Amino acid sequence: MSIPVRTIIEPFRIKMTEALPITTRSEREVLLARAFNNVFLLDADHVTIDLLTDSGTGAMSDRQWAALMLGDESYAGSRSWRRFERTVREITGFKHIFPTHQGRAAERILAATRLKKGNVVPNNGHFDTTRANIEYVGAVATDLPSIEARDLHSEKRFKGNMDLARLEQLIEAEGAGNIPFCMLTVTNNTGGGQPVSMENVRSVKQILEKQNIPLMIDACRFAENAFFIKEHEQGFADRSLLEIAREMFSFADGATMSAKKDGLANIGGFLACNNDSWADDFRNLLILTEGFPTYGGLAGRDLEAISVGLLEALEYDYQRYRHATVEYVASALISRDIPIVRPAGGHAIFIDAAAFCPHLRASDYPGIGLVNALYLEGGVRAVELGSVMFGKPAPGGGEEIAASHELVRLAFPRRVYTQSHFDYLIEVLDAIGRQRESIEAYRITQQAPFLRHFTAHYERAG
Ligand code: F0G
Repeated sequence: MSIPVRTIIEPFRIKMTEALPITTRSEREVLLARAFNNVFLLDADHVTIDLLTDSGTGAMSDRQWAALMLGDESYAGSRSWRRFERTVREITGFKHIFPTHQGRAAERILAATRLKKGNVVPNNGHFDTTRANIEYVGAVATDLPSIEARDLHSEKRFKGNMDLARLEQLIEAEGAGNIPFCMLTVTNNTGGGQPVSMENVRSVKQILEKQNIPLMIDACRFAENAFFIKEHEQGFADRSLLEIAREMFSFADGATMSAKKDGLANIGGFLACNNDSWADDFRNLLILTEGFPTYGGLAGRDLEAISVGLLEALEYDYQRYRHATVEYVASALISRDIPIVRPAGGHAIFIDAAAFCPHLRASDYPGIGLVNALYLEGGVRAVELGSVMFGKPAPGGGEEIAASHELVRLAFPRRVYTQSHFDYLIEVLDAIGRQRESIEAYRITQQAPFLRHFTAHYERAG
């Protein structure tokens, strides 16, 4: 009997290459200092492995590049728009579909047309642009993550679920009239890329339906979420990812989407809904700020690439490889005693920088220390999700208000890096892990009043 081959390979081969910048440690010392110790301020040309985000950084397939050439650039009613609409409807079932230039444009139109000052929007975990768009119109964005999500290291499945009891309490306290819609983010990016179960989507919908509150899905990573459901939720093993996605969307009244994630495209998104009067409002604002409703800020060729990408993201072999890659890195880090959020998310690994650097306090920004160590050690770029991103300067000076967790996200661009790139990443982290007590404290020397992580300047505190 032969031994079965167990390696899950990249289900593609490479037809075009892009050179990776290779730098020396001493060059990186200079480059990081010149960027005020903030990796956001580095030129991408000086980054070897860029794990800053999985958004818009994926590689398109030959089928997508071929589709690009078929782009119909007519202003109104183009063939590319029809294909886009057909594909999005095939997956989501929604009646009204509006292309947008990216996810936050869909969020902005949703928030501006549906919310008033003082309204409340519950979500399992708002992404920062979703929260910002809700707050911009004076409404309140409330996160209701599951209790299981609090323990970063527990192996529980579907830690992205919404806390149903808290949802009911919130509706009771606020009154359904003050909640114009509820959102579910699949997968929950801010909660570690954790998935939401079909059971949870169904239960959230049941609660909302009784109160006539519509449910919107933030669908950025809907295909990754569908894969988690297929693999880990009872009753879905024999269903295709497309069928699972359809069922997920069937519980919702609409969706916002960034096609830069599971659209496998470099730009794009959409807003969708079933309600005719909502659609009228969306259309009117879309024309004002994005473009005519059949292109919504995108070129016809982008609509083509997204149409192909959305379906490729639902291919089982692609998702199996993607999740195997994340798991491969996750298990290598666990075996090297590097603390990560468990189970690994769909699009990223989140390192628990507070546990990794017990010698640093939140006010030393352990996440920044680790991000900078990753760059100096191997030219790897990651992002801090800790007290710089979510903390605040204390009113009137004094100790800052810290975030609840000090995380560092290694986001995996889609179809971009091979296993040897990830072996390199593991080696870099291993080297840092062996001298973790030398990860340095940082201090902010300059910051913006909001979203300070993008532009802050740091210096070594030691
Ligand atoms: N919702 C979620 C869950 C997201 O992760 C993002 C983007 C958006 C909405 C906004 O979409 O960027 O197309 O406007 N997340 C990226 C990230 C930026 O790095 O996680 P966008």
